Amino acid sequence: MTDLKGAADEGRALLYVRPSMQQEDLGGLIQANGWKVDTASDIRHAHRLLDGNCYRVGLVHIDGFNQQLPDAEELFANRDSIAWVALAHAESLKQGNLCRIIHENFVDYFTLPIAAGMNQLFSTLGHAYGMASLRQQSALEPASADDYEMVGTSAQMRSLFVSIRKVAGVDAPVLISGESGTGKELIARAVHERSLHQPGPFVAVNCGALPENLVNSELFGHEKGAFTGATQRKIGWIESAHGGTLFLDEIGDLPLEMQVNLLRFLQEGTIERVGGTQSIPVNTRVVAATHVDLSRAVREGRFREDLFYRLNVLNLHSPPLRERGEDIELLAKFYFNRFRVDAGRQVNGFTRKALDAIRMHGWPGNVREMINRVRRALVMCDGRMVTPLDLGLEDQVDTGLVMTLEQAREEAEARTIRQALTRNNHNISRSARELGVSRVTLYRLLHKHGLASE
Ligand SMILES: Nc1ncnc2c1ncn2[C@@H]1O[C@H](COP(=O)(O)OP(=O)(O)O)[C@@H](O)[C@H]1O
Ligand SMILES: [Mg+2]
Repeated sequence: MTDLKGAADEGRALLYVRPSMQQEDLGGLIQANGWKVDTASDIRHAHRLLDGNCYRVGLVHIDGFNQQLPDAEELFANRDSIAWVALAHAESLKQGNLCRIIHENFVDYFTLPIAAGMNQLFSTLGHAYGMASLRQQSALEPASADDYEMVGTSAQMRSLFVSIRKVAGVDAPVLISGESGTGKELIARAVHERSLHQPGPFVAVNCGALPENLVNSELFGHEKGAFTGATQRKIGWIESAHGGTLFLDEIGDLPLEMQVNLLRFLQEGTIERVGGTQSIPVNTRVVAATHVDLSRAVREGRFREDLFYRLNVLNLHSPPLRERGEDIELLAKFYFNRFRVDAGRQVNGFTRKALDAIRMHGWPGNVREMINRVRRALVMCDGRMVTPLDLGLEDQVDTGLVMTLEQAREEAEARTIRQALTRNNHNISRSARELGVSRVTLYRLLHKHGLASE
């Protein structure tokens, strides 16, 4: 998927999968119609060809696979950037399984023998090519710098892309909210890339990671001799973002006493270095991000209201991965393709069960978790296909266990709490805040689920 940009130059390349010599060979006719046709005689061969070429369309004799049908299905399911068209004999279409596979993975099918309908097949292949090209273009946010590619075609992400374009051109602070690992920094960079400040630097500061006694000098800089140890003048983060974008990550973690200094900068557009007397104008676009609910922090007195309003002129919300529908699978495949070379040997895709597990998992760590799981899976994987076990998602696979809605809710609650605790090193206050409940409620829930000693 990363090499999509080169794909447009490849011309109308088509993969023709003909697993049985008994099937009528249509390759020559299709080639004569202006396609570059490569023929694969089995699934392994198809995978190899797919790895080395950019096909938009795949034409498959689907009833030639016999016992290998499940492997073939994995091929189609893993290569969904390709528009697959099926060829099948009328009697095969009576098999429920074959119909389901066509229905789930193919854009169209033709009944064999095809003799009379070649023109119709050509026109379908042409349409399939057009649709696959459109799909590939919209799968990636165009015109963003390659390293900051944002993958997404879900309605949520489309609307986010529209908002990014809108706010980028306006010279006012932006506040990005969203859970950790959802791509807030990526969004900030996308805003910067499209803004008037683009030629300037993008300076990212993690407000939660600044050493408490040095926050002021880190942000505003200091003059030589300002305090013991200040042997040289230091330019702070804000000043270094002059002419560009200042990205204040985890702004909710900025100590209260520091918030007033930041507010002053936002109001006046000038800073003073620690120990300095001169007021220095700094022109920078401020983009802040938070994974905590800042308006709630304001209500609870942990965040200044005036600063909140200053930062929250424009806002963007980065949706959690579990709410992005089809993007979950898209991202899994995107990162699979990016890391597959790390595996050091041929790995072809995800097993059907792995794809199910990916769909079923809640992704509390969002895209970051996806990247980690896929990367690890490629290292762990022994076979040619990534399994749920390789992804560490074996318990996500439907065990066929019937449960009531109430039981499912209980189980989800317990799992979410366990994950929050793990993420926050078992710190109760932080976990409670992340879960949006009070400490008292969290303690009660820990006892209820028998997690109290964890
Ligand atoms: N839409 C996306 N497409 C591709 N990669 C993404 C997307 N969103 C996030 N990522 C990747 O996920 C990781 C976490 O993103 P980041 O911006 O650091 O999240 P946050 O700041 O919200 O914690 C990064 O490696 C980022 O490149
Ligand atoms: Mg971040």
